[in-house]
Amino acid sequence: MLISLKDVVKIYAPAKEQPVRAINGLSLEVPRGDFVAILGRSGAGKTTLLNLMAGLTRPTSGEVLVESANLWSLGDREQSRLRNRKIGFVFQFPSLLPSLTALENVALPNTFGKRLAGDEARVRAGQLLEMVGLTDKRNAFPRHLSAGQQQRVVVARALMNQPDILLADEATSNLDEQTEQEIMTLFQQIHAETGVTIVMVVHSSYLVRYATRSIQMANGKILSGD
Ligand SMILES: Nc1ncnc2c1ncn2[C@@H]1O[C@H](COP(=O)(O)OP(=O)(O)OP(=O)(O)O)[C@@H](O)[C@H]1O
Ligand SMILES: [Mg+2]
Repeated sequence: MLISLKDVVKIYAPAKEQPVRAINGLSLEVPRGDFVAILGRSGAGKTTLLNLMAGLTRPTSGEVLVESANLWSLGDREQSRLRNRKIGFVFQFPSLLPSLTALENVALPNTFGKRLAGDEARVRAGQLLEMVGLTDKRNAFPRHLSAGQQQRVVVARALMNQPDILLADEATSNLDEQTEQEIMTLFQQIHAETGVTIVMVVHSSYLVRYATRSIQMANGKILSGD
């Protein structure tokens, strides 16, 4: 199994506020090659679930396993290595660095993984920009790109280290309908061409058809899935 969550609970306990049970005893298995869409109302725990899968948030109890490795029994260095090499993340909020060009933004994860030499990294970043249809924008800064183009750069960046898992949090929620369809089609194409496993939070049920299965969340639990 590529990703397994076993009876996971996540409680946020901010100072001076009531603790929140964001994930409430959730178990889930994601086999390699899946394209899973996660649906649920605001506050259902969708972002928290992705952050748990990415090893960005520590579960209060329960286990998160990536290829049978418990993310939280690894040392810091091993954990970040696994995260950098196996997982690509598309965040819910804009995350390009404004002072870097599109190409430099795409190549950035390589500087943490340090797997390719500079020239090779630029070549790969260029190929990824081509895949997302932005070859002509490789030297453009984010502020000179449309929202949809910026999101394509973010998707390309998430693929830079050839991850096994692509986690995407509402990657299309700020886009018009047509651009949204283009980005969803791009995810489908990436899934078909690279075989990467995708777990994606979507904000409406009509986007589920792009995935191979869907999961409905409420109150930190899975309500139903197919
Ligand atoms: N860092 C945090 N500290 C405290 N509470 C948090 C934190 N992050 C999330 N929460 C709470 O946990 C619950 C789940 O939040 P989460 O962000 O996972 O929801 P979501 O399903 O992604 O919602 P949305 O659709 O609005 O993005 C919410 O009640 C939220 O207020
Ligand atoms: Mg969210």
